Order: sequence, then C-alpha cells, then structure tokens
Amino acid sequence: MAQSNVLEERPDDQSDNACIQEEAPRTIHFDVFTLFPPMFSGALSESILDRAQKRGILQVTLHNIRDYATDRHHTCDGYPYGGGGGMVMRPEPLVRAVETVLSRPRGWRLPEGRAHLDLPAWSADQPPVLRQPTPVILLTPQGRRFDQSVAARLSMHGRLALVCGRYEGVDERIRTQLITDELSIGDFVLSGGEIAALAIIDAVTRTLPGVLGHESGALYDSFSDGLSGLLEGPHYTRPTAFRGEVVPEVLVSGHHANVDHWRREQSLLRTLQRRPDLLAQATEAGHLTPEDRQFLSSRGWQAPTDTAGPSGS
Ligand code: ADE
Repeated sequence: MAQSNVLEERPDDQSDNACIQEEAPRTIHFDVFTLFPPMFSGALSESILDRAQKRGILQVTLHNIRDYATDRHHTCDGYPYGGGGGMVMRPEPLVRAVETVLSRPRGWRLPEGRAHLDLPAWSADQPPVLRQPTPVILLTPQGRRFDQSVAARLSMHGRLALVCGRYEGVDERIRTQLITDELSIGDFVLSGGEIAALAIIDAVTRTLPGVLGHESGALYDSFSDGLSGLLEGPHYTRPTAFRGEVVPEVLVSGHHANVDHWRREQSLLRTLQRRPDLLAQATEAGHLTPEDRQFLSSRGWQAPTDTAGPSGS
C-alpha cells in the first residue's frame, strides 16, 4: 500500500499520527470516489446522517471518478492483462481524482456540468506532495474487517477518502501507489464498494459527539466501549403488555440501580447466547468484572483458560 496502515494502533510511531487528532474532532469530512454518486443520495439525506450534516458535524463530498477520465468515452475500466473474465478499474482516472481532490481544501469538487472540461492540471508521473496526509481507504472484500473499534479509530481523523471499487477489481498499482488502507464490511461480495462506504460513513458518524439525540450517544451501542464490547440487551416500550407478553417488572420499577444491573445481565446473557466469541475478547481485555463472570458461570459459561502456559519457566 502507498503508506503504512493508519488504522493500526501503534503508539510509538509518530509518523502516521500527524493526521490523527488527540480527541475525536467535532466534525468529519468524507471524500467519496465512486462511479455511481446517486447511490448515496437517499441514505445521506435521511435521519441521522441528514441531521449530522445539518448540524455541521458530517460533510460528504461525492466525486464521480468518470469526470476524471479524459478520453472521449470517459473510460474507467480495461480488459485484464493475461486474459480472463471481467474488467479492471484503470489507474489514471481514479488516481487523478483522488490526488486532485486531496490537494485541495475539504469540500472542494469539480464544478457541476462542465466537469471534465475544467480538470485542473495533474502529473501522471509525479504524485503531489500533500500537506496533510489523508487516509485513502479502498472498500474491498479483501480488506481488513470493519468493526466498531475501526469505526472509533476512523472517527479520530478529520478527513477520510473512501474509494469504491467496481468491476472485477482495481489495477494493482492503485493499491500500491494510492491506497493506504483496505476495508471489508464482511465475508461476502457486493457489486461495488458503495454500500460498504455508506455503512462506514454511518457507523463512524454516529460515534461523534452531538450526532445522536441523547447525551450518552453511541456509548451504549452494541460492541462499544460503554458495553465492554458486548451486545445490547432487549428493549421495551409501550404497551406494557403485548399479546400476553409483559414488560419485565424491573423496567417499570423506577429503581435505576436495579435497571442498570438487569441491563448488564441481559447484555451478558444475549452475548453468551449469540456471540460467545465477544465474551472471550472482553475477558482478554479485562472488561468483565468478577460479578459479570460469576453471573455468566451461573448460566453455563466456561471462562477461557489461559493457554499461554507459565511464563519464564
Ligand atoms: N466491495 C465488494 N464487496 C465488499 C465488501 N464485502 N466489503 C467492502 N467492499 C466491498
């Protein structure tokens, strides 16, 4: 990849951290590079993402890679060398798009309509020197798995570039010269990176202060630090009885400490039933209290044993 991986936590290495802010910034800017900008409009103009933009916390600038292709047909793909099925994304339009945009201030985009006629000068031989390194993330099923901790880490950046791959894949030189990180949203193949990019924009944005209506924000979302990386327990609202199923007594008791205790147990129980792997991670990270462990054991959980063996003997 073009630079070292900015998603890795490497406290000793200062070089990448120039673009990481000490505390989560109040705003985040995404530059999205895609062949299908209209795929984003619905998702970005509803609900939480719409509100985050209106509050000035989230900014998304969509860039049509095709606008940066200079031939008559605005070609962005080519046949694979060596033969084989499918087409491959060509390097020039995409590299030109990303380098042009990232050497300009956040929010800059080609003027509407006359886009390809007004392309700023660009060198095919020499990459520009950027004042501020920005992570350039390729969405691909071959990437590192995106999860809540990656979302939290991405939210520390003020600006991120998301590159939506299409066709059978991208020319390898895009990877070696432009891309700094590769992310996958799961072990399945989408028709392109757009849906993955939207998932990432959404997950990162909701971690930012001021995006969610309530004070605790995303702190108690499943997988988040506030929940020790566990799943959330069940939720209830009115009516108190629905088809014979009644809201648990404790939730209507008004006793906050008991409610918190019940919620913690439900979170542990649900995680035990559905994602026991998360309990192993939480144990390793020291996130489970002795009371948590006792409760889980009473429900049949077997704490992971330390398989490392005695050290130094
Ligand atoms: N592009 C195609 N499939 C993808 C996936 N699973 N994650 C991210 N980008 C993709």
